Amino acid sequence: MSTKISISRSAKFTGDLIVLSQKNNLKWAQNILTKSEIAYVKSAIKKKIDCVVLPSINRLLIIQFLNSSKDVSYHKEDIRLAGNAILKTLLHNKVSTVEILNYCKQNNTIEYAEGMALGNYQFLKYFKDKKERKSSLQEIKIHNSSTTAIEVRNLVAVLEATYVARDLVNEPLSYLTAPQLSKEIQKIGKASGFSVEVFNKKKIQQLKMGGILAVNLGSIDEPRFNIMTWKPKNAKNKKPVVLVGKGIVYDTGGLSLKPTTNSMDFMKCDMGGAATVVGTMSAIAKAKLPLHVIGLVPSTDNRPGLNAYVPGDVITMYSGTTVEVLNTDAEGRLVLADALHYAKKYKPELVMDFATLTGAASRAIGERGICYMGTADKKVMQRLENSGMQVYERLVEFPLWREYGDDIKSNIADIKNLGGPSAGMITAGKFLQHFTGDEYPWVHFDVAGSAYLKAQSGYRTKEGTGVGVRLMFDFLRNY
Ligand code: BES
Ligand code: ZN
Ligand code: ZN
Repeated sequence: MSTKISISRSAKFTGDLIVLSQKNNLKWAQNILTKSEIAYVKSAIKKKIDCVVLPSINRLLIIQFLNSSKDVSYHKEDIRLAGNAILKTLLHNKVSTVEILNYCKQNNTIEYAEGMALGNYQFLKYFKDKKERKSSLQEIKIHNSSTTAIEVRNLVAVLEATYVARDLVNEPLSYLTAPQLSKEIQKIGKASGFSVEVFNKKKIQQLKMGGILAVNLGSIDEPRFNIMTWKPKNAKNKKPVVLVGKGIVYDTGGLSLKPTTNSMDFMKCDMGGAATVVGTMSAIAKAKLPLHVIGLVPSTDNRPGLNAYVPGDVITMYSGTTVEVLNTDAEGRLVLADALHYAKKYKPELVMDFATLTGAASRAIGERGICYMGTADKKVMQRLENSGMQVYERLVEFPLWREYGDDIKSNIADIKNLGGPSAGMITAGKFLQHFTGDEYPWVHFDVAGSAYLKAQSGYRTKEGTGVGVRLMFDFLRNY
């Protein structure tokens, strides 16, 4: 379900309307409001009210006061949150189309519409009464001469892509098996304009992608390896940017069955990294960004079936490295490793992977940001952090010091898939780094804490958040 966003140049606004205004400048009001309404608004300002609702017979008029926050990094986010907060009033009044008019010095419409549209997301597929449950709000019209068509196109592209990513995370395993995920990716590719190639089990066996095959042993469904390509003629980069996403459609832990109460309840989210990559590919293709980008998603579920891999097994990865498997629940790094090795064939300029990789990431900073680390140079890391701040998917860097590599040394194989008792997020990162061979600049994002929410938080709706899509779109747009 998506909220339509359009731009209107017309000077007339006839429907339900939201005016974005500063408290210290009500000049605009003379053209729109009656004298008594202006007096009412002024008294509301005195009472420090931030949002005034003026119902009339033919329409709802909302005046939203936006204070410019002193801290610029919070400013855009406050606007998004205000856009989300007004939804309650709009839905209560069964508004279907809302027009937004900006009278602030700064143009805040994009962020305001963004927060509103993100908060209006719903996943209704499995409800019998989806029609009744459907949000009344269908369309947001931006009435603004200073908002450009390109800005709106980019906003629509990234919002629809975030919806796509949320939908994918929200789909349970009963629908979204690895083969089905490939079908979805093909559909999304067609709709957005990027191309898709899918390797089936036979091809994965021919290539000897031992990490993916080992995790898939306990499953009754085949694994898949998905390759997405966006290569426009006007691409600015000669060597591609490669995005890699963990596509574990369900993680039981395998034979090292997830131990804690309820920890399996939301493990349909373990393809959250894949959702980020698919969503990002969709956004950049729809926005026609002039960049060559490849997306790789290795995919299977992780189950303790009869033939499942066992703790103690030694497996040979696609790269030829042998891995002692000491915990079958550390499966994400195994499938990602094969994809990171595969990425070398593109001689990429930059590789970024997204994964719900470790509980340690979630314990470190919770849902409020993304833990990341990498070997890309400081400038790239800084630009990523800036994008994180802009879209409010904030990044916290963790170190990849060489000593952490000692924690994944094995007695009988090249490395093991389990680190020591602490720094689990970093040893997982060290494991991945091994398979980059330090052949390309690489960044790893552990989204275990932020890909899935047990309760709504602002415009981030419950369950799949689509985290990483807005971050990547901002980063790549400014690449
Ligand atoms: N999919 C999990 C990580 C996870 C935890 C994702 C919480 C989302 C929310 C991952 O495969 C896993 O089980 N990691 C283990 C690794 C450990 C066995 C080394 C973990 O973090 O406990
Ligand atoms: Zn696991
Ligand atoms: Zn997992």
